[in-house]
Order: sequence, then C-alpha cells, then structure tokens
Amino acid sequence: MEYTKQLLYTKFERFWHWSQMLLVMLLTITGFEIHGSIHLFGFERSVRLHTASAWSFIGLALMSIFWMIVTKQYVNFIPTKNKLREQVLYYTSGIFKGMAHPTHKTMFNKLNPLQRLVYAGLLIVIFPVQIFTGLAYMYYHYPQNPLDISGLNIAAVLHTDGAFMVVAFVIIHVYMTTTGDTVSSNVKAMISGFEKEPQNNNETSSISE
Ligand code: HEM
Repeated sequence: MEYTKQLLYTKFERFWHWSQMLLVMLLTITGFEIHGSIHLFGFERSVRLHTASAWSFIGLALMSIFWMIVTKQYVNFIPTKNKLREQVLYYTSGIFKGMAHPTHKTMFNKLNPLQRLVYAGLLIVIFPVQIFTGLAYMYYHYPQNPLDISGLNIAAVLHTDGAFMVVAFVIIHVYMTTTGDTVSSNVKAMISGFEKEPQNNNETSSISE
C-alpha cells in the first residue's frame, strides 16, 4: 500500500504534550512522596517540587486552552458516538486479528471516539479537579482556614483519587501508543509531528507547522 506523510501535531502541540508528560510525572512522583507511598526526594523537597510543577502545569493548561481556541483544535476532544461501537470492537477483538483501524487521523480528527471520551474526561474533569483541590490544599488549609477543615478533607480525598486516575490513564495511554501501524509509530509522530497515512485516506491540513 502507498503511504503519504501528513502533519498531525504542530510544534506547540508537541511542546504541550511532552512538557505535560514531564510535569505529570513530576507531580505524580512528588505527590505520592507527600502522601507517604514512596521515598525519593525527601518530604520538604517534594512539597517544593510539587508546588513548582503545579504552577507550571496551570500555566501550560492556560496556554493550551488559548491555543485550542485560536486554532479550533478543541474539536478533536468533543465526544462523538460516530464509530464508537466499531472502535470498542476493534480494541477488544479486531486488534488481535490484525484488522485495520476503524478511524483515520486527520488534523481535525486526530482522536478516535474512545480517545475523545477519555481525553475529554481528563481535560474537563480530572485535571481541573486536581487544580482546584490542589489550590484548596495551598490556600485553605489549617490554620489559615480552620473552619474549612472538613471541606479540605473532601479536597484531599478528591486530589488523591484524581492522582490514582492520572496513574491509570498514563498506564493505558502508554499501552495505546503501541497500537499504531508499528509499535513506535505513534510516539514517532508525536516527536516529528508527521504520521504515515494510507494515500487514499490522506487529507491535507490547513494548519502550518
Ligand atoms: C497530575 C496532577 C497531580 C497529581 C498526580 C497530584 C498528586 C498529589 C498527591 C498524591 C498528593 C498527596 C495527597 C495526600 O496525601 O493527601 C498531592 C498533594 C498536594 N498537591 Fe497535588 N497532584 C497533582 C496536581 C496538583 C496541582 C495542579 C496542584 C496545585 C494547583 C497540586 C497541589 C498539591 C498540594 C498543595 C498538595 C499538598 C502538599 C502538602 O501537603 O504540603 N497538585 N498531590
């Protein structure tokens, strides 16, 4: 089959993806050290690192929202039922029989219907929960706001539950990166920006690198 290369991920998107990956790793490691589950940097350094990466994470999130609005790339994250069934069947059975992917990527359709659901959940629910409960930890804890101690308990439980969901997402996400045309093709695309597509499915993008 003939293949052509199409631009899928712009420079900003690649910067966003890899810096978010580093920040999420740092937040998870230092967060679980604060929680007492692991010992690596020491408690106090972990708190400082967690706070610094949390502010960088918030800055990056604001930049990505601006970028999504300006480039209209938010359309990639809008959930759809179109081909959802086919995608579930593909991941649960077709993938093990070497069947072709039911959906094809383009600049404005780079996530399949299952990815859209999961990524929308991550960006609209889990990350905001981490940010708002994290800010509650920073600014509304005892003794600054002793009356809100029960509220902080809820924030603490939500923040830790959110952290477990982030870990679950990362594990599934890393597995999913290996399910492209080859084991490494998805990761290579997120590095170079380009992905190989069967020629008849190729659509030119209107976004410049
Ligand atoms: C991927 C995102 C994040 C993960 C996985 C994560 C994980 C964690 C975990 C596991 C804890 C320990 C909770 C406990 O034992 O009760 C923690 C604590 C904390 N997190 Fe996060 N977090 C994330 C994002 C954030 C953000 C965005 C902020 C701030 C806006 C933040 C602020 C805090 C604060 C202030 C603490 C308490 C630190 C202390 O006790 O001094 N976190 N985080």
